[in-house]
Amino acid sequence: MIKDIIDKKRRGLFLTRDELESIFMGYLNGNVKDYQMSSLLMAICINGLCKEEIFNLTDIFIKSGEVLDFSDIDGVKVDKHSTGGIGDKTTLVIVPIVASLGIPVIKMSGRGLGYTGGTIDKLESIKGFRIDLTNEEINDSIKKVGAVITGQTANLVPLDKVIYALRDVTATTSSIPLIAISIMSKKIAAGADKILLDVKYGKGALVSTYEEALELGSLMQEIGAKYNKEVRYIISSMNSPLGKCIGNALEVREALEVLKGEKGGDFYNLCVDIASNMVSMAKNIEIDYAKKMVEEVLNNNKAYYKFVDIVKNQGGDVENIPISDNIYRVYSKNSGTIKEIDALEIGKLSLMLGAGRKSKEDTIDYSVGIVLNVKVGDKVNTNDLLMSLYINNINKFEVSDNIFKIE
Ligand code: URA
Repeated sequence: MIKDIIDKKRRGLFLTRDELESIFMGYLNGNVKDYQMSSLLMAICINGLCKEEIFNLTDIFIKSGEVLDFSDIDGVKVDKHSTGGIGDKTTLVIVPIVASLGIPVIKMSGRGLGYTGGTIDKLESIKGFRIDLTNEEINDSIKKVGAVITGQTANLVPLDKVIYALRDVTATTSSIPLIAISIMSKKIAAGADKILLDVKYGKGALVSTYEEALELGSLMQEIGAKYNKEVRYIISSMNSPLGKCIGNALEVREALEVLKGEKGGDFYNLCVDIASNMVSMAKNIEIDYAKKMVEEVLNNNKAYYKFVDIVKNQGGDVENIPISDNIYRVYSKNSGTIKEIDALEIGKLSLMLGAGRKSKEDTIDYSVGIVLNVKVGDKVNTNDLLMSLYINNINKFEVSDNIFKIE
């Protein structure tokens, strides 16, 4: 009985594959109720899952839908995944870099539920960009431009879709085993040969400490090994927003600046780090050599032109990314050094401006967001510009005093 399975996990006991399958697939099929699954998820959050349960549940997730097979596309296909955060638009830069080096990239991304949009939302801020490619169109795109960035097909790990939506509203998102299962089931079902993971920790991230990020990264690596997928992970901080732009169209514009050759800063450095690891994995070469190749395609604009091609192939126009022209500027009330820019507070503000969704039904305003004029470590004087808010159709918003810590 379902109740007995829940009770076993409440007591911290081992669940067999059959038990996991009956309750999770029962939920997908509508035979297990929301309140029963919520109760089990909370018991998992509190008592955890052992490795065998994690491997079994990942497999159940994968097999709940279609498993894509791109083996007829030549070359080693590398995928990447970031556990997400405020201002994270790395995919927009990394995919064209890697593709411009002849490595096929099939990137399936999600929408955002939270403070800002996901990669797919960001791309939709480009007029005309299509994110709903069929498997046939994906294959054609790879042949034509070598890369594709598209939404997940409806039948890719459908179990994750329903469980993730429930976790989101039952305070059960922070369980490391559940995060690992959710991410790795989708990555494995999406059919790449090798996977690079960017695991974030900090205020704006799913896990708060470096140690937790390490645990999550190594667990995902172990799951990958079960499917003969090489998985590498890097760990990066998400205490402050990544880069200077937060909000969909603004983030695409910032990505374009890096692709056009702008260098330096945390966003540029992270893009180079992730892309170098992907190239190193795909070509089986040393990371330093891969890094030189990555820097070269940024310097000679090959990565930029690849992005233009990818966007054009999916119906978009990089010259047409509207942003609001209604700008509200925030100035420093005192002088000193910027010690912290709170990623979570920035996320909340961007949500208030309309750049994210509070619920699945919300629509995003692509044209709004935040441009930071300062980074951690900068010195400021009273009345110096701290950030510009791009606003639209909004009468009231509040800028928290806790965003910038200036000492
Ligand atoms: N991203 C996912 O896809 N799943 C999680 O559980 C967390 C982040």
